[in-house]
Amino acid sequence: MASSNPFANLQEESDALREAWMRHEETFLGDYLVSEVEDPRIHFPSLLTRGMLVETLFPGKQRDLIWQEYRFGLCMSFLQKVARQRPGIQTATHLRHALEQGLKEFKSMTIASYLQEAWDELQQAAEEEHYLKQALDAWQQTAWDGKQVQELLGTFMRRWASILHEQVTKPCVVLEPACGSANDYRSLAACGLAAKVHYRGFDLCPKNIENANRDYPQAAFEVGNIFDIPASDKSADFLYVHDLFEHLSVKGMQRGFEEVARVTRGMAVLSFFNAAYCPSHTIRPRDGYHWNRLSLGCLQKTMKDLCCEVEVIHTASFLKNAFGCHDYHNPGSATLVLHF
Ligand SMILES: C[S@@+](CC[C@H](N)C(=O)[O-])C[C@H]1O[C@@H](n2cnc3c(N)ncnc32)[C@H](O)[C@@H]1O
Repeated sequence: MASSNPFANLQEESDALREAWMRHEETFLGDYLVSEVEDPRIHFPSLLTRGMLVETLFPGKQRDLIWQEYRFGLCMSFLQKVARQRPGIQTATHLRHALEQGLKEFKSMTIASYLQEAWDELQQAAEEEHYLKQALDAWQQTAWDGKQVQELLGTFMRRWASILHEQVTKPCVVLEPACGSANDYRSLAACGLAAKVHYRGFDLCPKNIENANRDYPQAAFEVGNIFDIPASDKSADFLYVHDLFEHLSVKGMQRGFEEVARVTRGMAVLSFFNAAYCPSHTIRPRDGYHWNRLSLGCLQKTMKDLCCEVEVIHTASFLKNAFGCHDYHNPGSATLVLHF
């Protein structure tokens, strides 16, 4: 493990973390982690967390839709990537032709096998379910950034909402540390899951909490610190955290994990953006806080002392095995699922 901790104690580290996020404008904080590949309607770690929550609430009942949504996320991310590289509306025409013909590439771009598979399968579905045809039509008519494509990104939000609306479930307390400006909560609200649970989110940065409370006044958001989670012991059925731990010192990270273990009674889903199968953590203090690269083996070992069972899901490997996906944009993405 390289480099020592620049902070004398957790109070000093908390002050530095708060300052690091407070230096940004409110509007930037509200947008920077919820667009493009990180749009929680198509970003795989967000879909995985929501899938786990659905599975917790309705065990075994919605697996088909969960997997369909994973593929939807992959396909829309693929189209988004192509649209960034070749924004012209004729790209949509060429891609559509290639998919209809089952070609392996178009205009020197490889067509992902999961896209072709989804296309072929959706050909059998009702017209209104063919989200790929709709996306290509919309792209041809109004360009990728047009309103129509943006609305299509909400396809599964609407599908979930219409299904969950009628479902009855047991009470479930969901806790989200480092919730940002309701970055993931916005998709919980849009898909109807928020209405099924008792959600509480907290974040160290007051500007994020102001944004979240302004946009979702009915939800419970507060300023809080993962070093001292504002919740009593074993009070959360389902806790999730996205993209926080890489920014903490080793001491801070350990304290955060212990706090997660203290307050969670069911399952915790911890999502990382920079983790790898490497022998040790690489600790990198930067900009007054940290940008670490975490070792999945070390994380797993730490977690084993804190919970009953740990699952490691390395995103790129999971998507390769499940969908033949070879182009996931972030090889450092991984999720640890802790069972208490
Ligand atoms: C990279 S952002 C991730 C935000 C959100 N979870 C997402 O994935 O979009 C990290 C967030 O952690 C918050 N944060 C930093 N240190 C924290 C701490 N000690 N306790 C709680 N939140 C913290 C920041 O304010 C910021 O909103």
